[in-house]
Amino acid sequence: MPRKKKTVATKTSSKKFQLVKGMHDVLPEDEKFWNFVTETVKKIASDYGYQKIDTPILEFTDLFTRSVGAETDIVSKEMYSFVDQGGDNISLRPEGTAGVVRAYNEHGMFNLPQPVKVFYIGQMFRHESPQSGRFRQFYQFGFEAIGEYEPILDAQQIVIGYKILQACGITSMVHVNSVGCQECRPDYINILTDFFKDMKSQLCDECKKRLLKNPLRILDCKEKKCQELTANLPQTVDHLCEECRDHFVKVLEYLDELEIPYFLNSRIVRGLDYYTKTSFEFWEGEDESGRQKAFGGGGRYDKLVEQLGGRSTPAVGFAAGMERIINKMKDNDFTVPLNRKPDIFLAQLGNEARKKTLRLYEELKQAGYYVAESMSKNGIKPQLELANKLGVRYSLILGQKEIIDGTILIRDMEGGIQEVINYEKIFIELEKRFNKQGEKTTE
Ligand code: HAM
Repeated sequence: MPRKKKTVATKTSSKKFQLVKGMHDVLPEDEKFWNFVTETVKKIASDYGYQKIDTPILEFTDLFTRSVGAETDIVSKEMYSFVDQGGDNISLRPEGTAGVVRAYNEHGMFNLPQPVKVFYIGQMFRHESPQSGRFRQFYQFGFEAIGEYEPILDAQQIVIGYKILQACGITSMVHVNSVGCQECRPDYINILTDFFKDMKSQLCDECKKRLLKNPLRILDCKEKKCQELTANLPQTVDHLCEECRDHFVKVLEYLDELEIPYFLNSRIVRGLDYYTKTSFEFWEGEDESGRQKAFGGGGRYDKLVEQLGGRSTPAVGFAAGMERIINKMKDNDFTVPLNRKPDIFLAQLGNEARKKTLRLYEELKQAGYYVAESMSKNGIKPQLELANKLGVRYSLILGQKEIIDGTILIRDMEGGIQEVINYEKIFIELEKRFNKQGEKTTE
């Protein structure tokens, strides 16, 4: 007797996938904040003559080792690096400056009028321990002015960052310092080494190593006990060479002139190796607790262009973290100005009407109206509810009766008055209404 085939119930996998640690989604409800910050950055960039640049997310690992520095936390611990199928050592960019400088050299931008002023907005990647305001993929906007030494440019970078934050409803405190140059920094490092020598045993393990390799890094250690040891730190500004001191004094004078509040802070040495002279960060206040939540930071990097194979070219820039800015905007209950409301809502009922509104939608847009619709909805009520929500002034309503009669309804959403108009006269009727109000906008 043939054996009965056993039926096996096939079970489809129902694994619920989750975000990779340190990543985050930007949901539609937050999109208004992202758009607002992006538009503000673009507007201020254009006011100050900065043009947009987009560099790739992937770069050769070497680029970051040479610029940000092999010994920095960013390069030694936090980079997403891999060998690709072609055997190249590649990294996801942890920051934007190195890529911009590579592009400046690679595309011969030194032949353009200097300084070359560019800005960027994009994702950066650092394998840090995630916490509030710290992600493994995060967005930065950044500004770079490459090709001039003048301290006015340093002040301008600070003003740009300050103004963007201000436009987002954030009053920040600028923490500013000068890390000197190749001439005076070694002397300061010697002074620091002496300063920490007797406290070596009290430093964290990482800082014990830093004391040998690069004592400056101790100044931005995240450990509380190391921070406390730096309370009576020898001030960098007291040990600058004449050239660096003059440069720094001028930056401060410009900030005074522009009435930008700042705080001199010797511990702003930055976590990246390429800085020379001015270094700065935007914090919430003067307090040290602001360091971990800094909205942005930057400084001068006069040696980097040359270090990456270009000519000797001074430069200055900064970048800011968009998540941190947006979190703060939300904490502050910042009201994002409303987007422009649509002029017309196009509502339909029935198959024929839906088909006809498809064409009408395109014609209205072509005539310069900003039109909203919800063609996937069936009832008139939910469509008009949506029109109300959007704050639309007029709805055009097309149903089966109107199709047969060759008409369309126009509803004033404020007063609720509805008129039947000849379908052929839609544009004349709209023109009358919008001209009267002078409201029609173009997308
Ligand atoms: P940075 O200080 O490393 O500088 O980063 C700038 C800002 O990016 C920080 O102040 C912070 O707001 C944000 N940020 C950094 N890491 C994270 C993270 N893991 N999660 C969320 N936000 C973060 C630079 O990147 C330099 N390239 C700035 C610069 C431009 N210097 C000269 N030109």
